[in-house]
Amino acid sequence: MDDIKRGGIAVIDYGSQTTQLIARRIRELGVYAEIFAHDAAPEAIERRQPAGYILSGGPSSVYAPGAPTLSPFVLEHGKPVLGICYGMQLLTAALGGTVAASASREYGPAQIQQRAHSRLLADTAAAQPVWMSHGDRIEELPDGFQTLAYTANSPYAAIGDVARHRYGLQFHPEVGHSPQGSQMLGNFVFGICGCQAKWSAAAFIDEAVARIQTQVGDERVLLALSGGVDSAVAGALIQRAIGKRLTCVFVDNGLLRQGEAAQVLRVFRKERGMRLIAVNAAEEFLQALAGITEPETKRKIIGAQFIDVFSRQARQLRGLRFLAQGTIYPDVIESAAAGKSARTIKSHHNVGGLPEDLDFDLVEPLRDCFKDEVRRAGEALGLPSSIVWRQPFPGPGLAIRCLGELSWQRLETLRRADAIFTGELVAAGLLRGETAQCFAVLLPVRSVGVMGDKRSYEETLALRAVATDDFMTADWARLPYDLLAKISARIVNEVAGINRVVYDITSKPPGTIEWE
Ligand code: XMP
Repeated sequence: MDDIKRGGIAVIDYGSQTTQLIARRIRELGVYAEIFAHDAAPEAIERRQPAGYILSGGPSSVYAPGAPTLSPFVLEHGKPVLGICYGMQLLTAALGGTVAASASREYGPAQIQQRAHSRLLADTAAAQPVWMSHGDRIEELPDGFQTLAYTANSPYAAIGDVARHRYGLQFHPEVGHSPQGSQMLGNFVFGICGCQAKWSAAAFIDEAVARIQTQVGDERVLLALSGGVDSAVAGALIQRAIGKRLTCVFVDNGLLRQGEAAQVLRVFRKERGMRLIAVNAAEEFLQALAGITEPETKRKIIGAQFIDVFSRQARQLRGLRFLAQGTIYPDVIESAAAGKSARTIKSHHNVGGLPEDLDFDLVEPLRDCFKDEVRRAGEALGLPSSIVWRQPFPGPGLAIRCLGELSWQRLETLRRADAIFTGELVAAGLLRGETAQCFAVLLPVRSVGVMGDKRSYEETLALRAVATDDFMTADWARLPYDLLAKISARIVNEVAGINRVVYDITSKPPGTIEWE
């Protein structure tokens, strides 16, 4: 019952930074889109029986030695093809047109003008803004192609061989700066490929439940529940599929935010009736972290400690054949790409790396989902919005927001201040709107202050709030001064151990969102 993934779109990746966005936009239209490497085996793609192909952009030059090429099978069966940027140049070169290196790169906003009516640009304005980003340009169209739109710099901004359903766009319809780009993608997907909108949260859930039941049979499944969105939705899905044969383990590492552990127990054990084993390992984690100040060392110790605690628990639970993980689609794509650039900026951890004697088969029901699809599935499964819309929280938790040496007391100080900051932002309606992520950071920096008539000498708290769509780049949130004043006054008055509050005004890059 693989139905909802059949008859969608295969997005062939040539290395553009916006390839994921192409797939997301199409899925937002209700059509399943899957990304394949440009050299993927044809059988892997054919398994999905795609109704059409989109060739992504990419940084290469079509005639450069070693540049990725167009697999012949994409053209062989006559299904519709849309090439975007590099994809358009590849298509042109493969069909006998010519592409030339351009002296100047065209990058940024441009205005296209439609020349001929086409199904691809139907119901979009005759003149409209789009986002260009290309070096090479098309010099001569292949036989059968005509110009559908042009710009002042690009005579071939949109082209098509209407009879053979092959199209090319020199610009990026998938980015927000091409406001009518989604309409164009919709025209391609529905009008040209004839796809049906059958990819929805409800359809995904039905399919995932059936798939889990087939995979797991009568066996039992173990899941590490962190309280984060991905493991929570994976848990809810698997519970729907196999009920009490799912056992969850929740490790409280003592590095969680205020009230978080209690919330996980309430939602999953009490409200949803899950079999949930809670392990309070706070002391163990703190002991392992004693005296450690270096951020990467903290992360590694926490990762190793988690594996240790989880493995001990897993060994006690005999007879479990399957381990479930909340791996999502960007994790899959990024770990495939990570082989190519192994430079660690910050090491992330998950349940990967269990000892060899714990030889589980993996259940990963969210492997094909983008984050927004995971959230929609979570809502459809009835998870509370406090979990579904939770802001990101790093695996190493407050350890990397409590700079310097950790102690239970410093963690408690941070928890209280963080709860005040987040609570005020929620009350002001600024979390999730203006601000995608907000948190407090406790600094091991003491300064002098006056409290009442007394001199104080306490630590500093930094507030971090960022606006971002994708967490890859971010800007500091322009929070109202009066709100910052209120938060600062409350923290200094209500939280012992802090006598100074500062606001972080660093964007990413060059900063990162977290401090460690
Ligand atoms: P940075 O600090 O790299 O963070 O700008 C980008 C986003 O990733 C989150 N983050 C993590 N998430 N494990 C996670 O699951 C981690 O170790 C980790 N480190 C950072 C961070 O909160 C932000 O949303």
